[in-house]
Amino acid sequence: MPDYQPVELAKCYRLLNHGPTVLVTSAHAGRANVMAAAWSMPLDFNPPKVAVVIDKATLSRQLIEASGEFVLNVPVKAQAAAVLQVGSESGLQVADKFAASGLSAEPGHTVAAPHVAGCAGWLECKLLRETHNQQQYDLFIGEVISAWADPALFKDGHWQPIADDAKRTLHYIAGGHFFAIGDAFEIAQPD
Ligand SMILES: Cc1cc2nc3c(=O)[nH]c(=O)nc-3n(C[C@H](O)[C@H](O)[C@H](O)COP(=O)(O)O)c2cc1C
Repeated sequence: MPDYQPVELAKCYRLLNHGPTVLVTSAHAGRANVMAAAWSMPLDFNPPKVAVVIDKATLSRQLIEASGEFVLNVPVKAQAAAVLQVGSESGLQVADKFAASGLSAEPGHTVAAPHVAGCAGWLECKLLRETHNQQQYDLFIGEVISAWADPALFKDGHWQPIADDAKRTLHYIAGGHFFAIGDAFEIAQPD
């Protein structure tokens, strides 16, 4: 497993800035869970905040509302089948989605919710309760209190050149159809 390193909070938005599909992890009262989410985004730099859509029919929503915490994990291509699986079945029917999907839960650093082993990185978040947004739009806002990344993939606030195709982050369309992130390129900053 990679030797994950803390990510400077002011730079943690960059883990999400390219719009990867994420895994949302949550836990409450001895129950932990994981679901896929294509609809997440950074929301602020400092203190860093994120937004994610969590449907009313999910177990994740119950756990997040009860615990006031969640983690956004950034999975990689090697995990795509598991991402699809945990996005296609509910913890309301499956007792342990980690075991069922082959994903491994590891203890959170600053939250009770676990993170997913093997991801490029993760953001540990405290829920900023906005009842209207949650009820009306299924929109959950969190403040990132700790972030971590595999330094082979994201280091000093920057994504690194991708040496291993299996480590590309994911973008979801629908129906099991994904894109993996492509290669980076640079454009000179305008004067
Ligand atoms: C790739 C992918 C992306 C998804 N994105 C979202 C999302 O952004 N928000 C959401 O509420 N559900 C999304 N889903 C559906 C949930 O992951 C799905 O409802 C899941 O079964 C919920 O699990 P839970 O009930 O165990 O929490 C997505 C599913 C897939 C496969």
